Amino acid sequence: MSNYKIQSNWDGSLYNDKHAFVWQHGEDLLRLLNPKLGEYILDLGCGTGQLTEKIAIAGAEILGIDAAPSMIETAKANYPQLRFQVGDARNFQVDKPCDAIFSNATLHWIKEADAVIACISQALKPGGRFVAEFGYRRNIDAIAQALETSLAKIGIPEPQTRNPWYFPSLGEYVSKLEQQGFDVTYANTFPRPTFLTDGEAGLRNWIRMFANSFLIDLSAQQQAEVISLVEAELKPKLYHQGTWIADYWRIRIFAVKL
Ligand code: BEZ
Repeated sequence: MSNYKIQSNWDGSLYNDKHAFVWQHGEDLLRLLNPKLGEYILDLGCGTGQLTEKIAIAGAEILGIDAAPSMIETAKANYPQLRFQVGDARNFQVDKPCDAIFSNATLHWIKEADAVIACISQALKPGGRFVAEFGYRRNIDAIAQALETSLAKIGIPEPQTRNPWYFPSLGEYVSKLEQQGFDVTYANTFPRPTFLTDGEAGLRNWIRMFANSFLIDLSAQQQAEVISLVEAELKPKLYHQGTWIADYWRIRIFAVKL
């Protein structure tokens, strides 16, 4: 199973309730998108639909796509008036060309970035906008490192092969876009320290939701051991006054299809 497929099994209601920070941070990106009345906009990796709805409120016609059936089920239940469908960002088609494609906190789950960009390009009108935010090269570096070293400590071979993420540098991603005919008019990276909910259990819960591919075939005892090792290693760095703060870094892009 590919990493992208593993993420496709996400629990939509858990995401909706306990990981709301993912879409709450995305509101800033909406200002960059600046959706207009009558535009046709695709929300790629729409999750449970909160940002999709905000684009619709601006008067755009909207389609939300997500690879996880459970996310789409929750999105449809949340916003029955909007259009959502299950789809793969590496291989999707739209019913008519889009004025813009918006994507928040999704593209770092897909290592096949060129295939995604090709699909985005064919779905946009000439002059159409691609507005995206996702994990930058330095994203959750401390957490990823700690997961890999902890797996190695308990004797799991090649722990880096379990890493599901695509966190490019700015130069790498901009040149991929340019190679496929985009004009990148804005590109930036910035840190976004992210407060995890649930106090002391925050990192544990985050790992179980977002980093499950590191643990998936381990016994319950091995999983608990890895999580304790990760917590012990990261506590001095990422745990402050009863809250875990994850070391997120973002890449933000505004590109126009030529
Ligand atoms: C992110 O939003 O940057 C992210 C979330 C979970 C795992 C990896 C990255």
